[in-house]
Amino acid sequence: MIPDVDNDSIVYLNGEYLRLGDAKVSVLDRGFIFGDGIYDVVPAYKGVPFRMDGHLARLERSLALLSINVGWTRGQWEALVLDLLKRSTLENSMIYLQVTRGVAKRDHAFPGNNVTPTIFGMVAPFSPPGQAQREQGLTAVSVPDIRWLRCEIKSTSLLGNVLAKQQAVDAGVDEVVQFRDGYLSEGASCNIWIAKDGKLLAPPRDNLILAGIRFGVLEELAKAAGIVFEARPISQEEVEQADEIMMTSATKEVLPIVTYNGKPVGSGKPGPVYATLRAGYDTLVAKS
Ligand code: PDD
Repeated sequence: MIPDVDNDSIVYLNGEYLRLGDAKVSVLDRGFIFGDGIYDVVPAYKGVPFRMDGHLARLERSLALLSINVGWTRGQWEALVLDLLKRSTLENSMIYLQVTRGVAKRDHAFPGNNVTPTIFGMVAPFSPPGQAQREQGLTAVSVPDIRWLRCEIKSTSLLGNVLAKQQAVDAGVDEVVQFRDGYLSEGASCNIWIAKDGKLLAPPRDNLILAGIRFGVLEELAKAAGIVFEARPISQEEVEQADEIMMTSATKEVLPIVTYNGKPVGSGKPGPVYATLRAGYDTLVAKS
């Protein structure tokens, strides 16, 4: 019995649908031994996945970058997401998909072609941010980014992210803002944005961040609202002097960070760029 989860919820594991409480993976799974796997998280509102194509394209990209060959078509991934949703009664949910290189004798090098990847999928509850979080905003502190140099892969090797998130918990704030060599990368499990003089800025989509699916969404929303968007390196000073700081992820959607390193960001209240993007995001979700 796993605490704090619905042990009776139905998950997918290697071709079977099982109770979460009954799903088991071998101790020699390379995901367990080496963190040799990838994942993705698709949000769903009222049983309908949001931006599924983008999430599945990223899942396929992560697999390709690690040379994990599942041999599934896009249609098979879509069918898995929809089948999982059909077996869930949750109003809003997130579909978690994970693929590891499979079960093999412990050896760092890739195993032979006779090893089949492990495929796992589950549906978990997701509560979109409520009025309080949207209006009061979040708090964050800056931390050094100690992660590896392939952050564009949505890998299950998340120790750097785990340690970063724990720093937020230990500091009594909601999120961390990570910096590598003095430049903004991202949060522990979200992308970070700033607004300055009405412009929206985010770091380049390179190997130092995971390009969130909301990266594309915010870009679209900014364009539609006539907000200039620039993806470029952002220094620590620029974040300190930002008019607004925001974060995005599948589960947090878009939220303002109003206190940064103990100081108010801009007016200390959610700003106008956030308000525009938030309204646009809500409209997209309502239409989905
Ligand atoms: N995290 N950067 C990192 C390191 C992330 O882990 C995530 C998402 C994002 C935002 O990506 P998206 O907009 O596609 O959710 C950026 C997910 C939600 C997680 O790990 O649970």
